[in-house]
Amino acid sequence: MPFTIIRNDITKMKTDAIVNAANSSLLGGGGVDGAIHRAAGSELLHECRLLGGCKTGQAKATKGYRLACKHIIHTVGPVWRGGENGEEELLYSCYSESLKLAKKLGCESVAFPLISAGIYGYPVRQAIGVATRAIGDFLEGNDMDIYLVIYGNNTVIIGEQLYGELERCMDGIPDGQSLPPLRSSRIRQVPELFLKKASPFFGSKVGASADAEKPTVPKANNNELPMMGEAVCAPAAAAEEDCAFDSLDEILGAAEETFSETLLRLIDERGLTDPQVYRKANIDRRLFSKIRSDRDYKPKKQTALAFAIALELDLAETEQLLEKAGFALSPSIRADLIIKYFIVNGRYDIFEINEALFSFDQALIGA
Ligand code: APR
Repeated sequence: MPFTIIRNDITKMKTDAIVNAANSSLLGGGGVDGAIHRAAGSELLHECRLLGGCKTGQAKATKGYRLACKHIIHTVGPVWRGGENGEEELLYSCYSESLKLAKKLGCESVAFPLISAGIYGYPVRQAIGVATRAIGDFLEGNDMDIYLVIYGNNTVIIGEQLYGELERCMDGIPDGQSLPPLRSSRIRQVPELFLKKASPFFGSKVGASADAEKPTVPKANNNELPMMGEAVCAPAAAAEEDCAFDSLDEILGAAEETFSETLLRLIDERGLTDPQVYRKANIDRRLFSKIRSDRDYKPKKQTALAFAIALELDLAETEQLLEKAGFALSPSIRADLIIKYFIVNGRYDIFEINEALFSFDQALIGA
């Protein structure tokens, strides 16, 4: 997964490089700086002495010594002075300069602490936002596995308001009830495949949850599909007609488009490029190539969900895409409720969703 948030001690990370939140002398200190120096051993300090210090927002590299990583990238974050003194730009530069240096060193993976969010007093929530933005911007044009390492268990990394809303969302939805109404009735054409593929296997579930009203399926002609205001589902009658399969061969022959075929069709229908999709989905480029070349590829649920977010599918379309991979959103799985919350509210930033999932100790989406 290109960008992962994890709870760990950065000195335990086995990435090609780890980043140290140092001070401008580069001669060690407390916090993560102290932890890295202790774990790497005294040779690290000898090499740091030769670097001649480092400016705030800049980055310099040393070897990893006794640490598992090959390189330690030392960067100096800004001290928080209220936010009006260029702190954000300097903190962004710490991440972008460290990533540039990691790339120059040929690193395929790098782990960051939450720079400036300790002794330097940068508010955690804002520090996360800058880190996520800088890392996301770098991943727009680069392939690397990047970890944001959160230390200790007390850091809730999303805003209190969102945390509260999600808490209510997870506690307040008894089984079988619907989520808060869609904020905007995301009017968009229903991808043709979902309309035509209302097959007996999916019965009337296509396009709406099984117990939803059974509206008539609007007549679809070639160039205009029903707008997504009406739930799209195959009326029971139509499903029965098509149900007359004589043999298993016929049933298998009538098998629906696979997950991979559906995904590629949705990408084409939206005129998106592969990099746009796998980057927005926080999916590794090599994995995407595998999915593209294997029509029967079976994704994990987190992978299928990541694509639904990248394609900005609404809830019904997400359910249908998941179904292609044999999954469903559950009303009793916390991670699913969190993802439903973001979809229903039209918020498709996968990094924001992963921050929320991380805050509730749920598996992140992407792969
Ligand atoms: N692994 C991962 N993260 C850690 C670890 C660790 N072992 N130890 C601390 N952290 C986290 C802190 O919880 C915080 O979220 O690193 C983040 C940065 O905190 P600091 O280490 O205090 O760094 P910073 O706020 O950038 O202040 C830098 O502190 O250590 C001195 O010499 C350093 O003067 C410099 C200043």
